[in-house]
This record gives sequence, C-alpha cells and structure tokens, in this order.
Amino acid sequence: MLRTFKIEKYHTEIVSKATLFKALKYLDKKETDTPFLLIDSEKIREKVSVIGRNIKNSKVFYAVKANPDIGIIRFVNKLGMGFEIASEGELSLLSSIGVKPARIISSNPVKSFKFLRMAASYGVNYFAYDSRDEVDKIADFIPGCNVYVRLSVPNEGSEWPLSKKFGVELDEAAALLSYAGEKGLNPVGITFHVGSQCTNIYNWNSALDKAKALWDIADRKGIRLNLLNIGGGYPIKYTKNVIEVDDIDRNVNNLIQEKFPQDIKIFIEPGRAVVGDAGIFVTSVIGKAERADENWLYIDVGVFNGLMESIGGIKYSYIVETEREKRVKKKWTLAGPSCDSFDVIEKGIALSEPAIQGLLLILSSGAYTISYASEFNGFSIPKTVLI
Ligand SMILES: Cc1ncc(COP(=O)(O)O)c(C=O)c1O
Repeated sequence: MLRTFKIEKYHTEIVSKATLFKALKYLDKKETDTPFLLIDSEKIREKVSVIGRNIKNSKVFYAVKANPDIGIIRFVNKLGMGFEIASEGELSLLSSIGVKPARIISSNPVKSFKFLRMAASYGVNYFAYDSRDEVDKIADFIPGCNVYVRLSVPNEGSEWPLSKKFGVELDEAAALLSYAGEKGLNPVGITFHVGSQCTNIYNWNSALDKAKALWDIADRKGIRLNLLNIGGGYPIKYTKNVIEVDDIDRNVNNLIQEKFPQDIKIFIEPGRAVVGDAGIFVTSVIGKAERADENWLYIDVGVFNGLMESIGGIKYSYIVETEREKRVKKKWTLAGPSCDSFDVIEKGIALSEPAIQGLLLILSSGAYTISYASEFNGFSIPKTVLI
C-alpha cells in the first residue's frame, strides 16, 4: 500500500534522508501492525565508524541499556565494538551470543550481588565504583580485578543529567583509589559521565580538567593509573542541530594529549549516539478528541510502552500520514494509549491532522525507548525491526 506522509525539509535534517527513505519504503511494502521500532542498520554502522576515530588509543563500548535488542547487539558485535553493561540480564544477552569477557566492561557504580557473581564467573574484569562499600563487594566477588573510580562532573546543558546519583568529589575519589588498592583490587583509572544528550561541549572540558586533577593526586600518592573512561553523552538530533561527534572527539583528544600521559588508554561508552538516530518509531493514531480548547491525539505508543524520556524533557520530531486536503496544521496534545493521565507525550505540537488508523512516525527514537518500555495496562512492548 502506498502511503502519503507530510514530510518537511527539517525532517531530513533530523534523520538522514537514507534512513527516512528506507523506513518509508519498508512501510509501503510490509504489513504494518503497529507499534514497532524500525532501526536502520546502515546508520548504526556509520555511527560506529565515527565514534572514537579521532581519539587516540580509544576503545568503544556500546552502552547496552540504550537498546538491548538482540538483533542490534549481534550487529554491533559484528562491527567489533565492546559492550558496557550494568546487570545480569545484559550479561546474559551478551553471553548468549558468545561475546568474549575481554570486550565487556561494567560502569554501573553500584552493582547487584547477582550481577557480581555472574560477572565473576564469566570473567568480566573492568568495573566502576564510587564508594567503600562497593570496593568491599567487588573485592569479595572478583579479587584483583581492574577498577576505575567515578568522578562527579558538571552535567549542565545535558538534556538527561546523570550526575546526582553517582560520582564523588576529588578528595573522596583519591581516597577511594587508595582504598581499592588496600583491598587487593587494581585501581587503574578514572571515569565520569557528562550527562546524556550532552549539547554543551564544555562539559567535556571541565570533566577532563577534574580528571587530570585527580590523576595528579593519584600520581603523588604513588598510584599509577593508565585508563580514562570518558563515559557516554554524545548527543543526537531530536528537534534541532547538535554538536557533531567528530567535533567533540577532536576537542577531547586535544585536551587528553595536552594534559595526560602519552600511553594512556581511553574507553568510551556511547549508547544514545549509536542507536538513537537510527530509529523511527511507527505508531498509529487510535483516537482524537477536543477537550477544553485542546486537540488531543492518541497514539498506540506512550510514556509507558516506549516514550518514557518524553516526560524527562526529550522532545521528538514527528511525521504524520495525512491526506492532501487535511494538510492544515493544528496544535495537538499527543497522548499514549493507557488509561493513566500521566501518559501524555507532549503538548502544543503543530501537526497536520492525521486520520484515525493513520500512521505517525517518531524520529530519532532508537535509544532509551524500548529499553524503558513496560506492559502497563496490557499494552505490549513494541518489537524492534532491523532494516
Ligand atoms: C555509566 C554509563 N555509561 C554510558 C552511558 C550511555 O550514555 P549515553 O547514552 O548518553 O551515551 C550511560 C547512560 O546512562 C551510563 O550510565
């Protein structure tokens, strides 16, 4: 069935033309039992080839939490990337396809016992931490393993800040490096996270300044570090342009070359930037209503079954399937299918009026969508289709 979508120029500036046309071609050819997430594998390949290429001595680990679909994991694995994981579920996924432990790290600073037990028997050997209790736990389960301390760094300008829950200040970080050594672990380095969807390039500058200060304190204490794990945070385009990965990496590389020893190893843990702009959510309009001067549009994906980040500040771009005569734009309140009044994705979005059962595409929705989805109210978790 040939479908008509209202595509505007800015849409092809948000996702690439190649990704969009591939998705539209798919929708013309296949049954569309919505909702589902289309993932353009070529876009992932392109992103994987870019991330880290301008940072000397870097290794890239895909943050599985962004999208743990097994097809994506297999694809990323074939591209030779490592993986960053946080839980026994993520480790099971990797073990099911035989990913070698040497390609797995865990940067969740507070790990479950079940995970530590499983990571120990699988042979994972790199872990983040930010407390004495965590050192004691890791030392019990995986004596002698490599650990890196999580430093708290500014997250201003990141649309999904992460700094409050984890990370310690310089003095505490230095004390924790010593403590890890005393407990028989191998304190190898420092990690930080500038915040997810970080559109402020200076966050990397301040994080690297702080990491350098800690590096020097450690050096004075006789702790010889060799690893800097710069976390994730690379932004993607949702509704506007953002700094390019290459520009961030060139800046980061210059700062590292200027401040740190030559032979330092760099780990990078991107999640959103690997899969986010490769994804287009395909949803259907299931209802419309006019209430108290608001036009409501109900679709079959909402806050609970895929669009959780919309309540934390992430705004998406949308394409509607619409007949030519209905192309006048109206302001809509976009809501999900559940009975909960919390299930409102966004207010005041200008869209041409779609028909009931018409499709609504949500761009740049490959990351932190399906991985957050629940079956609340009996709506199933949308499937992911790699194209
Ligand atoms: C420890 C850690 N590493 C990497 C990531 C991935 O970050 P992003 O998706 O912003 O690249 C996260 C995201 O929450 C994280 O907590």
